[in-house]
Amino acid sequence: MVESRPRVWVSQPLFDDVVARLGEYFEVVSTRDVTEYSPAQIAEALSRADGALVTLNERIGSDQIAGAPRLRAIANVGVGYNNLDIPALARAGIVATNTPEVLTETTADFGFALMMAAARRITEAERWLREGQWRQWSFQAMLGADLHGSTLGILGMGRIGQGIARRASGFDMKVLYHNRSRLPEAVEQETRASYVGFDELLAQADHLVLVLPYSKDNHHVIDARALAKMKSTATLVNIARGGIVDEDALADALASGRLGAAGLDVFEGEPAINPRLLALANVVLTPHIASGSLATRRAMVALAVDNLIAAMGQGPDAGRPPNPVSA
Ligand code: DGY
Repeated sequence: MVESRPRVWVSQPLFDDVVARLGEYFEVVSTRDVTEYSPAQIAEALSRADGALVTLNERIGSDQIAGAPRLRAIANVGVGYNNLDIPALARAGIVATNTPEVLTETTADFGFALMMAAARRITEAERWLREGQWRQWSFQAMLGADLHGSTLGILGMGRIGQGIARRASGFDMKVLYHNRSRLPEAVEQETRASYVGFDELLAQADHLVLVLPYSKDNHHVIDARALAKMKSTATLVNIARGGIVDEDALADALASGRLGAAGLDVFEGEPAINPRLLALANVVLTPHIASGSLATRRAMVALAVDNLIAAMGQGPDAGRPPNPVSA
C-alpha cells in the first residue's frame, strides 16, 4: 500500500521555483491566482491540511482551525504575524513561524524612502507636474522639510528600527527612539540612537517612523492626543501595521495643518483606504510594499518554506524550525 504524504496548503502564488521544495516532502495544494478568501474558505482549506504556508491576508483564529484536526504547522510569510491568533494555535498544538531578518534592510530602505518622499513632497510634486500645472519655475513651489540635520524619531527599535537609525547617520540626523525596553548601550552607540520617553519622542521628532509590532495594546497608539504633541511641521511614517494609527485623527491633523505630512505603507482596513486620506495632498500612500524587493520577497518565501519543512518534522532541521513565534 502506498503511504499518503502529508498535505500542505499554499494560500497564494509565491514564486513557484522557491515553493517547489515543499514537493520533496509533501503533497502541495496551491493556487495560480492571488485569492481573497472568506474566513469559511480558509477553514475549509485548513480542514484538509497538515501544514500551511500563508500570508498576512489570511486571518487564522480558533474558528479557522476548529475543523482542522491534522493541522500541525503554519508558516507565515512575513515578520509580522498579527493575522494569526497565536494563543489559539498554541492551544491546538499548532506551531507558527515567521520570517524575520531577511527583510530588515529592504524594509529599512523603504521606510527611509517614504520619509523622504513625504518630507520633500515627491509624489505630490509629480502629480502636479503630470497634471500640466508647472507653468514656470518658481522659487516657492513645493517647499518641503529637510532630512539632513533634523531629528529622527523611531517608535519600535527592533531590527528594522535599528536599520533606519543606521541609515540616518548618513544624513547627519539626531536619532531618538522609544521602545518597550531600552536597548543595550553597545547597540545605542552603534546606531547613534538615544532612548527617550514616548511623549518626548513625539515632541522632539521632525520625522517620526513607526516600526513597532502591532498588538491590541498599541492599537491607535498614535491618536489625536499623540498627534497633538507632535511638531506641526513633522512627518509621520508608518511601515508597521495600520491599526497603530487612528487614521481619522491623522486625516484631521494633516488637513488642519497640525501635522506637516505623512507616508503610509499600511492601513487599518487595507486594501480599503480611508477616503479622507485619499483626498489629502500631503500624504504619500503605498500598497504595503516595504519588504517588496524581488530578492527579499524570494528570501522570505524560502525562509517560510524552511520553517514549514522543519516544523513538520522533515529536512535537516526536523523539529527545530528556525523562526517559531510565541504569544
Ligand atoms: C511583514 O513581513 O510583516 C510585512 O508587513 C509584509 O511583508
